[in-house]
Amino acid sequence: MTTDDSKRAVARRAADLVTDGMVIGLGTGSTAKHLVDRIGERVRDGLRVRAVPTSERTASQAQSLGIALVSLEECPQLDLAIDGADQVDSRGDLIKGLGGALLREKLVARASREFVVIVHSTKLVPTLGSGCPVPVEAQPDEWERVRDRLIELGASPHLRHEGPEPYVTDNGNMILDADFGALENPGQLELRINEIPGVLDNGIFAGMTDRVLIAEDHGVREWVVPTRSRAESPGG
Ligand code: 5RP
Repeated sequence: MTTDDSKRAVARRAADLVTDGMVIGLGTGSTAKHLVDRIGERVRDGLRVRAVPTSERTASQAQSLGIALVSLEECPQLDLAIDGADQVDSRGDLIKGLGGALLREKLVARASREFVVIVHSTKLVPTLGSGCPVPVEAQPDEWERVRDRLIELGASPHLRHEGPEPYVTDNGNMILDADFGALENPGQLELRINEIPGVLDNGIFAGMTDRVLIAEDHGVREWVVPTRSRAESPGG
């Protein structure tokens, strides 16, 4: 099985969690793309859902497949959000946003009764942060001040580029990829980064995951994250 086949398998399993009448959050990335494809197939077969997309990319894919889109303003409470991740630790905390959609992804995950993460097994790590920076979304006119404050917090931040130009998010902001090394306390760091003026949000998702579906060589493994680790996570 190729990695892409595994991503498709885990995405299809996640799509089975969607039932008629649900309002769902649709993630962004190569794994979430398979999810949107599968939900599109189910909609063609009669499934009725409304979806909040986490990026313009996902919105246009969903629209092209006939999935009805709504905004968080119209539907502030979602039944289920499904998204990929860049790293998942042993408590189900995440780093997300290497695909650039972290702000909307976090708003959607927060608004959902259940947040399901779909990943390839290579994304599982004992500790977040080793080999993966924390993406930080910053207001365009504040990014240099944000960069300086991230350095004070112990990070090596780099402004993300797309070719020669700074990368611009769907919300018109910049992203700083901040390498902190291994994160001792992801929940606390998530809060501290968000206290920096000019920061819109960051890619640490601590204490939010309900379930992780993991693509392994011979199938999909499901991990229900215990409520206690979720509740304890932000403070450490
Ligand atoms: C986008 C994300 C993605 O979920 C994350 O980058 C994983 O993507 P992929 O499924 O392509 O590995 O956070 O902002």
